Amino acid sequence: MTIAIKGGTVVTADLTQKADVLVEGTRIVAVGPDLSGDEVIDASGAYVLPGGIDPHTHLEMPFMGTFSSDDFDTGTAAALAGGTTMVVDFCLPAPEQSLIEALQEWHQKAGKARCDFSFHMAVTWWGRQVFDEMPEVVARGINTFKHFMAYKGALMVNDDEMFASFQRCAELGAMPLVHAENGDVVASLQQKLLAEGNRGPEAHGYSRPPQVEGEATNRAIMIADQAGVPLYVVHVSCEESHEAIRRARQAGMRVFGEPLVQHLTLDEGEYLNPDWDYAARRVMSPPFRNRKHQDSLWAGLASGSLQVVATDHCAFTTEQKRFGLGDFTKIPNGTGGLEDRLAVLWTKGVNTGRLTMNEFVAVTSTNIAKILNVYPRKGAILPGADADLVIFDPHATKTIRAATQKSAIDYNVFEGFELKGLPAVTLSGGRIAYRDGEVRAETGAGRFIERPSHAPVGRALSTWKDLVAPRPVARSGIPAGV
Ligand code: URP
Ligand code: ZN
Ligand code: ZN
Ligand code: ZN
Repeated sequence: MTIAIKGGTVVTADLTQKADVLVEGTRIVAVGPDLSGDEVIDASGAYVLPGGIDPHTHLEMPFMGTFSSDDFDTGTAAALAGGTTMVVDFCLPAPEQSLIEALQEWHQKAGKARCDFSFHMAVTWWGRQVFDEMPEVVARGINTFKHFMAYKGALMVNDDEMFASFQRCAELGAMPLVHAENGDVVASLQQKLLAEGNRGPEAHGYSRPPQVEGEATNRAIMIADQAGVPLYVVHVSCEESHEAIRRARQAGMRVFGEPLVQHLTLDEGEYLNPDWDYAARRVMSPPFRNRKHQDSLWAGLASGSLQVVATDHCAFTTEQKRFGLGDFTKIPNGTGGLEDRLAVLWTKGVNTGRLTMNEFVAVTSTNIAKILNVYPRKGAILPGADADLVIFDPHATKTIRAATQKSAIDYNVFEGFELKGLPAVTLSGGRIAYRDGEVRAETGAGRFIERPSHAPVGRALSTWKDLVAPRPVARSGIPAGV
């Protein structure tokens, strides 16, 4: 059974060309003129893009006394409707829990996924067992380990633990990720704000100023450099953090930065809304920032100092958000975005000239496929690549409405956004997974994608670090090392 996608313009990270795409089984088998197949999809007037990869989701995540409301079923339905064909979720071991046991739990939950998926393993506590189990995690196809520098008393790890874990990552050819905020300062600011009578959702923003993110990003970069390992900074929201990444990259360090589509398009004014529910629904960490920070993030994507746009999809209902009525520190942190990432980024990025179409593909798919070491199986339109494709209609329009979304929650932080440019058809693993507003991929159709260790950038960095490692000076007449 073959499918020919005909008459479209194929847009990849490095090329825009008029070409047909032929799919056989789960893979792309040809890209070129005049291809024919058993089934034909007419893509005339449309762009054919590699399926989006969202490397940052929290589906059915246990957090702040509840579980995020989109699970792998509804979350991946939303993903496919929005042109995303692979999600990477975070496996979060409980304190003292075995990493392998937690991984089994996450595989259980992800059995419902409609699109392909992978996991990052979170290092939520540190000890001999974690150190010993990390190689087995890598052997099971996970090459990234996440560290929370915030959420004191819950997920947060300290500098010594991070340094130990980063060194272990270096040995294993894995890459650490960080949520970079100074958790000690945030916790103190939260208590101070509450004591001063700042109890509403606006105080969430006050408790997490850009400086706490910038400091933590600098610290994580220094720790990664000393450990000799690349670093990926999730949800970069501000100039301070971007500046740290930019500077590190210019100094030759291997650091990657991931802004979210929410931080690019929504600002801190959202928290001042007089409607408590409206403001609380937008509480996430880091919080939304002002225009200066947004401009910095857009510039980073255009110039290459930031590489990936994700969502951090972590959806809580209004009822769940109300756990924090009277105490902003109890509002579950997180916002949705999986269904909207591509179309919002296209509308606000490509249609405005902030990004080229090729840059759009790079930041929504190709760059992260390379960083996570699954390129060119993912993130490419090449013979042999997985047939994860989006037929994207640049003329189609829609107004975002929670009432018609696939996500399980009762609101949408982009409510009312006018979009121009939408996925018309999404193919996932060679099958039509979404077409004309309808998700066709079945629950459980998604596959776990193994990601091998020793990605090219990590290998290059360890070669360099070995070359410049401290060595004893050989002195005549005196034994080495004395
Ligand atoms: O507020 C957020 N971002 N919630 C999800 C957990 C995290 O920090 O990524
Ligand atoms: Zn985070
Ligand atoms: Zn997150
Ligand atoms: Zn059209």
